[in-house]
Amino acid sequence: MANLCVNIDHIATLRQARGGHEPDPVKAVKIVEKAGAVGVTVHLREDRRHIQDRDLFLIRKIIKSKLNLEMSINRDIVNIALKVKPDEATIVPERRKELTTEGGLDVKKNFNKLKNIIKKLKENGIIVSLFINPDIEQIKLAKELNSDYIEIHTGLYAEVNTEKERKIELLKIQKAAYFAHSIGLKINAGHGLNYDNVKEISKIHVIEDLNIGHSIISRSIFVGLYQAIKEMIKLIKK
Ligand code: PXP
Repeated sequence: MANLCVNIDHIATLRQARGGHEPDPVKAVKIVEKAGAVGVTVHLREDRRHIQDRDLFLIRKIIKSKLNLEMSINRDIVNIALKVKPDEATIVPERRKELTTEGGLDVKKNFNKLKNIIKKLKENGIIVSLFINPDIEQIKLAKELNSDYIEIHTGLYAEVNTEKERKIELLKIQKAAYFAHSIGLKINAGHGLNYDNVKEISKIHVIEDLNIGHSIISRSIFVGLYQAIKEMIKLIKK
């Protein structure tokens, strides 16, 4: 049964909108843990549009559950990751102008760079995950790179408009997850998951963690963060 890891980036998005101190994403950590999630995910973007270095270092100090750092392969970001030593590093592609992470990593194109970075992260005791599309070739390359996990990009599944398209995308994710499992990779999934679409993904029993952010933070405005997380866990575990 999948676990929930809560992405708290958008608490910082709200703070950055005014450039002040509130709301503080660091304060969310205790609530996330109390509500029963297995960890906290943050993405330290190169443009620092939400999470700041200060957030990451403070979260590292106080977190009792798992800290999953989403990161690009930018050298400065890699150096920060090696300093912070998150429990898990999820390597994602990053483009300055995108609204959010668009598409999975191109493992083939970045193979040598990734090899180097994965080696360094693992030498520092950090579990490595690669955020990729549900694509068999990319999964084989992730295995070749000695990644511990893949995180399957569920964005397309979440965005399609018709039931037929949704079923096609779901099937791709199921096939990718079971294939990855069969070759010894561990599997997480995330992006675009919400209270309406999470159920089918949570039924794929080889998936360990679901990384969910925007829908939970959005709901928390109306019911509070604790309740929003509880509701999501209930859906995932049902
Ligand atoms: N997983 C990855 C790799 C992501 O980049 C993101 C977005 O930061 C998420 C999961 C969470 O996506 P969402 O905010 O749409 O739930």
